[in-house]
Amino acid sequence: MIKGFIFDLDGVLTDTAEYHYQAWKRMANKLGIPLDREMNEQLKGISRMDSLERILAIGNQTEKYSVEEKEQLANEKNEDYKKLILSVTPNDLLPGIADLLADLKKENIRLALASASKNGPVIMEKLGIADLFDTVVDPASLANGKPDPEIFIKGAEQLQLKTEECVGVEDAQAGIESINAAGIFSVGVGTKEMMKNADYAVSDTSELKLSDILKKATN
Ligand code: G6P
Ligand code: MG
Repeated sequence: MIKGFIFDLDGVLTDTAEYHYQAWKRMANKLGIPLDREMNEQLKGISRMDSLERILAIGNQTEKYSVEEKEQLANEKNEDYKKLILSVTPNDLLPGIADLLADLKKENIRLALASASKNGPVIMEKLGIADLFDTVVDPASLANGKPDPEIFIKGAEQLQLKTEECVGVEDAQAGIESINAAGIFSVGVGTKEMMKNADYAVSDTSELKLSDILKKATN
């Protein structure tokens, strides 16, 4: 029986995935590195420093900067990103998410957040959904980021549930891999091609219906 849902944030609950892309694109362009939406798919779900490393690798610039310089670049991107999220309000919940969360609460299903973002708690407050969640996995506590299963295993532990009692929802390929490796039923939001490893995939958050997900997860 499904007793818990573990959500990714950026690109699932709200469209901040787009803001991450815009901020990284600005940084990449400044460094003379091309970054397009296709490359950006590989950055989704990946921590700030690992994202920077991937961008530098695209430009063959991995060796160009010291650790301190890399920290400064990542910090600069984050300051840019923080400006973009200043205007986030409850209206920025993606289509269908408010209803899905309300349905989950009605069924007494426990909720956890499993986002790699250190900005996650602030965004949850701005979206007005922080109080709906029972627990948030602290990304700073992780030894390994997505696609490693650690973050979703911790989410289930923090909910005091077995992984087979949980559903995980993601928009990133690395995130789906993480959920699958944790032994959790994976729900993907995105194109069929991108979400081909998800146990159940929808193209848009408006299609995330609790009854459909529970039917698929308990089949
Ligand atoms: C999420 C996003 C990534 C982002 C990461 C770290 O996983 O999908 O695009 O890089 O969080 O976010 P942060 O806000 O800590 O830089
Ligand atoms: Mg995401």
